[in-house]
Amino acid sequence: MSERSERPIGMTEAGILTIRGGAPLRGTLALPGCKGVSHRALIAAAVAVGESELANLGTGRDVASTRAVLGRLGVGITDTGDGRVRVRGPGFAGLVEPTEVLDCGNSGTTMRFVAGLCAGRDFLSVLVGDASLSQRPMARVLDPLRAMGAAVDGRDGGRLAPLTVRGGRLHGIRHDLAVASGQVKTALVLAGLQADGITEIVEPAPSRDHTERLLRALGAPIEVVDDRTTRVGAGPVQPFDLDIPGDPSSAAFFAVAAAIVPGSHVVLEGVLGNPGRIAYLDVLRDMGADITVHARDERAGEPVVDIEVSAAPLQGTVIRSREGIVDELPVLAVAAAFADGPSEIVDAAELRVKESDRIATLAVELGRLGVAVETRADGLVVSGRSTPASPPGATFASHGDHRIAMAAAVAAVASAGTSTVEGWGAVDISYPEFGAHLRALGGDAS
Ligand code: S3P
Repeated sequence: MSERSERPIGMTEAGILTIRGGAPLRGTLALPGCKGVSHRALIAAAVAVGESELANLGTGRDVASTRAVLGRLGVGITDTGDGRVRVRGPGFAGLVEPTEVLDCGNSGTTMRFVAGLCAGRDFLSVLVGDASLSQRPMARVLDPLRAMGAAVDGRDGGRLAPLTVRGGRLHGIRHDLAVASGQVKTALVLAGLQADGITEIVEPAPSRDHTERLLRALGAPIEVVDDRTTRVGAGPVQPFDLDIPGDPSSAAFFAVAAAIVPGSHVVLEGVLGNPGRIAYLDVLRDMGADITVHARDERAGEPVVDIEVSAAPLQGTVIRSREGIVDELPVLAVAAAFADGPSEIVDAAELRVKESDRIATLAVELGRLGVAVETRADGLVVSGRSTPASPPGATFASHGDHRIAMAAAVAAVASAGTSTVEGWGAVDISYPEFGAHLRALGGDAS
């Protein structure tokens, strides 16, 4: 059965950002904590028994959704007052049956992780999301959880949210994912930590490995057999303190902006340097971007880096979606629109089932720049700029998708005239500070 579902383009959020383009971006930026690591750190701290402290937790609504859902499951999470968050972990056994639905908002990560978390608990939970999340594929996570022994269901024959999870005693399985997914893998790891025996997860290609790195650093029984196979047994997680590195996917917007706006020079400080997550920098380098990565330190098994980017002329290229080059594709498509010569984005069918159908929404928004765009089932062909002059500015729309909103803002910064991004409020999902950070680097945005 196909996991794809039709969703109208054009869902919007409130707010408009106005950008007068052309100003070079210059300066240094520290980014809010990585969204992917923030979700995982909150959940790991919840299932540990004892107190953990997290600094630089991601500030977006998705991370807030995970925090609120954990609260409903009985996890005490408080702000320390100095920017850190304290989690009093009750452990798996201390989670309580929620009296209300678990609202995952727009966050696929929250819904999939929490489905795996609750699958091992002997209670009922009901997971709901917004209109976008309610159209995103869930069978990929429910099917293996059912095979492990949980009673799970969802709308449309178990394909879509709302989901019901009646957890209980689980047994380990070997599961082959049809599509590589850090979210599904993590859901099964969270279930596997509560299951009898070994759970083995095999992927057709590598996906994000933050869960493995973090849990290994915390002494949990997880084994990375190779870059496609993860094994996990039942076991406890130790409490921990973590200063979460900056979000590499958020950094990508400013890396591309600095690369394509002449005269720019930007340093993105303290970014999570997980090789898969900064692989998009290799794509930009292949296109001709001037990028230097400076190693800093290591935290919870993850490297941390500073990324230095100066503007340089870009050439078109072939961009293959792979580990870590999924969420960055919208802004890489903007880089392609400002490059000389055509680019192709290939092997990227997953873009169809993100917060919007990003192949469709990118085609609409890039089209407003006057570049020719051809859509394919699994990607896009972007013609590149037709003349050396910058486009004059345009009226863009977010389609309710945070990454489409920020990709459009980057296009606007690189355009000559005044542009607007309608539905700008969508950026609150992952990067509420984007507009302020753009201004801090010299961008003219209000
Ligand atoms: C994520 C994995 C990716 C990514 C998403 C976050 C994660 O999704 O697009 O933004 O934190 O594991 P998939 O697992 O669906 O590929």
